[in-house]
Amino acid sequence: MRLSGQNITMTVLVTGGAGYIGSHTVKALRARGEDVVVLDTLEFGSRAAVGDTPFVQGDIADEALVSKVVADHRIDAIVHFAAYKAAGESFEMPGRYFLNNVGGSTRLFETAQKAGVEQVVFSSTCAVYGTPSKVPVGEDAPVNPESPYGESKALVERILAWYDRCLGVRSVSLRYFNAAGAAMDGTLGEDWTWSLNLVPVAMKALLGAAPPLKIFGTDYPTPDGTAVRDYIHVDDLADAHLRALDYLRRGNASTAINLGTGTGSSVREVLSAAERASGRPVPNEESPRRPGDPIALWADNAKARDVLGWNASHGLDDIVASAWSWHSSHI
Ligand SMILES: NC(=O)c1ccc[n+]([C@@H]2O[C@H](COP(=O)([O-])OP(=O)(O)OC[C@H]3O[C@@H](n4cnc5c(N)ncnc54)[C@H](O)[C@@H]3O)[C@@H](O)[C@H]2O)c1
Repeated sequence: MRLSGQNITMTVLVTGGAGYIGSHTVKALRARGEDVVVLDTLEFGSRAAVGDTPFVQGDIADEALVSKVVADHRIDAIVHFAAYKAAGESFEMPGRYFLNNVGGSTRLFETAQKAGVEQVVFSSTCAVYGTPSKVPVGEDAPVNPESPYGESKALVERILAWYDRCLGVRSVSLRYFNAAGAAMDGTLGEDWTWSLNLVPVAMKALLGAAPPLKIFGTDYPTPDGTAVRDYIHVDDLADAHLRALDYLRRGNASTAINLGTGTGSSVREVLSAAERASGRPVPNEESPRRPGDPIALWADNAKARDVLGWNASHGLDDIVASAWSWHSSHI
């Protein structure tokens, strides 16, 4: 981005930008003319997903590398996606989550702050709420994570609050609900190799690349007995990151904001949308509830609307149709 009246070009560092949500956000940033550099280990994600965007392969915890990237590219803000995200796995390997998500993020903030970076947009999650006592859940609900993964994100939010208080690093923690779908223009999508999320797993089952989808819990106190979540289109998420960056650039205070549609959809409603998109039923079987799965979770998204001027523009049918179009052409 060229600062008005000056000949200084500043660049946004996108960590984890080769991953699912990161690559969609890189595309949106570049579409509005921002200079971007991506830092990603490529442990997950794909080099191809960032196209010709300047790319550095490496770890957010590598202080020498981060210092060099910040200096070489004149970084003034970070959009920080890089993390591990499998809540189930985090119970088996909590250290992996605390070391990478918390330790890595702290090293990143420390190195970047020393080099003068004072704005961070952080990928947080609705998992910081655990099982809230009421839905829709607002940002003022207690932070009460129920997995090491959720705890790692809550800890990073708190660390960012201290970086603001002590050193003036301002941040927006975006608490995503369930990211899903593929770019509406068909250019990007999710890699289903490692995703355990409902939409890609339904696509795998539809395309015969996986066994029938297991519906975990059919006896919940919901209209059709299955769990309810707030599915948000990945292009809408990307748009919210641009708005969060603008919010920080206008000099506003650090905050945490929910990103969800404000509407819950049950597992069976997602499967019906998948059937509408593909023209065939999703092979499925009923399974017992999984311990720790909330019954129903959707966002109060009034703050995103009020503070960022953001609204979800895509509903469940767009989410599932874009995912179907992506996965059925990228098996
Ligand atoms: N997908 C969702 O539904 C969802 C929901 C809530 C929050 N989030 C958060 O959003 C972020 C992005 O999620 P995603 O779905 O795009 O995940 P993803 O796995 O597709 O992307 C994460 C990227 O970060 C990279 N990475 C991981 N550790 C790194 C490190 N130490 N240094 C550099 N790169 C590293 C990976 O290689 C990968 O490309 C994550 O922080 C995740 O916790 C995701």
